[in-house]
Amino acid sequence: MTRLMGKTALITGAATGIGRAVAERFSVEGARVVIADRDTQAAASAAQTIGASARALTMDIADETSVAAGFAELEGLGWTPGVVVANAGVQLFGHDAPIADLDLDVWRRTMDVNLTGTFLTVKHAVRAMLPLGGGSIILTGSPTGVNGEGRDFTAYSTSKAGIHGLGRTVAAAYADRGIRVNTVIPAYTETSLVTTITSDPAARAAIIGRIPLGRAGTPEDIAGTMVFLASDDGAFATGALFQVDGGMTTI
Ligand SMILES: NC(=O)c1ccc[n+]([C@@H]2O[C@H](COP(=O)([O-])OP(=O)(O)OC[C@H]3O[C@@H](n4cnc5c(N)ncnc54)[C@H](O)[C@@H]3O)[C@@H](O)[C@H]2O)c1
Repeated sequence: MTRLMGKTALITGAATGIGRAVAERFSVEGARVVIADRDTQAAASAAQTIGASARALTMDIADETSVAAGFAELEGLGWTPGVVVANAGVQLFGHDAPIADLDLDVWRRTMDVNLTGTFLTVKHAVRAMLPLGGGSIILTGSPTGVNGEGRDFTAYSTSKAGIHGLGRTVAAAYADRGIRVNTVIPAYTETSLVTTITSDPAARAAIIGRIPLGRAGTPEDIAGTMVFLASDDGAFATGALFQVDGGMTTI
């Protein structure tokens, strides 16, 4: 378990859910990990659980001042990340809706975090990685940005399709400077993001019924693929979408 030995990784939204599982797995693989989250207390608690190879960083990805300050702080500490997982995201259940019923405010709140937040994270990650001679950036996409899974979630689905496009564009623009960018697409994964579905037996059965492997994803399912992309095993992978979705987007 030493595939990330010598690497420093920053993971946004790592206080809980998928991001936390990624941080824990990266640490097991030998990386130093930065738990970046807007929830200061939960980030500190996650970092404490991992131990000395982890540090917490309060960062609101929707706020460029916060993102820039976070990267500057890491540089000052000698913790400039060569791996960045732009994972933080929101899904506004009960508010996001088919377009005729969608409030502009809900659209903006979703875009501010998911799309603008990912843009800001990647922008400052690239700036940090250029002097290092390269790095690996991993984005968290969604099946809703690939097919009609999210037809009732107009803002969320559109934000995730935007992330997929951002990943391809940045990968093409910076490949010659050693920066790889890939997007991992989890299917329905039982975290706090989706408790609206998890707590509704009919909705849960319906979504699992659309996953050919017949179960929900786990945060650990996603972490394994991200280890590959962060490590030198993934050296020839860039600009790609990695569907870790139990086959959901095949049907
Ligand atoms: N859970 C799923 O079924 C699923 C499926 C596909 C994609 N995803 C994506 O995976 C990513 C992680 O989701 P999750 O399920 O672990 O969710 P989660 O709600 O468990 O965790 C999200 C984390 O992001 C943090 N966060 C939210 N807004 C932030 C901001 N502005 N700045 C910094 N941190 C912020 C939260 O505090 C939280 O710790 C998201 O991008 C989500 O869209 C999740």
